[in-house]
Amino acid sequence: MRRLFLPELKNHLQQDGQLTSPLQILELACGTGRGSRFVRLTFPTAQVTATDISAPYLKVAQKKLEDLNKIDFLKCDATNLPFKDQSQDVVFCIFLFHELPMEERIKVLSEAHRVLKPGGYFAAVDSLQIGDRPEFDIFLENFPVDFHEPFYTNYIKNEMQTLFQKQNFKMKNEGTGFLSKYWIAQKPVI
Ligand SMILES: C[S@@+](CC[C@H](N)C(=O)[O-])C[C@H]1O[C@@H](n2cnc3c(N)ncnc32)[C@H](O)[C@@H]1O
Repeated sequence: MRRLFLPELKNHLQQDGQLTSPLQILELACGTGRGSRFVRLTFPTAQVTATDISAPYLKVAQKKLEDLNKIDFLKCDATNLPFKDQSQDVVFCIFLFHELPMEERIKVLSEAHRVLKPGGYFAAVDSLQIGDRPEFDIFLENFPVDFHEPFYTNYIKNEMQTLFQKQNFKMKNEGTGFLSKYWIAQKPVI
């Protein structure tokens, strides 16, 4: 599920002619680095920075990814990024949004938009939302009954697509894979 967005993202970057120059790729909320590995392998020459708000998770990620080409690790809050405006070609996050209250989801998108270069891409993978695949709605509704997921019910009822549009992203791709979905959105070149 973590890899869902990678084929389409690579296609976009290839079509834009961006794979020839070193890409700046920023991961938000990398956790223990399970998505970072796939991105590093897909874009072997990119400058990848993996970030998370948790120092212990970052430490595990660093250890698990030490066999790969260099990745930079940085502890930071995805709602307040210590990166310059228009400094990144790609920003992505995997399974972050369902962990956040609505106002923080909006801040993450706003920060991603700020640090992306015009024409840059924001990609995300997260849980399905209600109505994406009606046969799975019952699983989504029961998930926070069994697990401590305080913002999940709000997340599944408020489609992310609307938030992307409000933050001035142009939606390029969306799709589902089992209990997950992905989005690829572009910061317009004005
Ligand atoms: C469900 S885990 C997903 C981790 C990883 N992306 C993966 O797919 O395995 C959610 C992650 O979000 C991080 N996180 C939560 N709030 C955050 C914030 N405001 N800024 C950065 N990271 C945050 C947590 O520390 C945790 O690593």
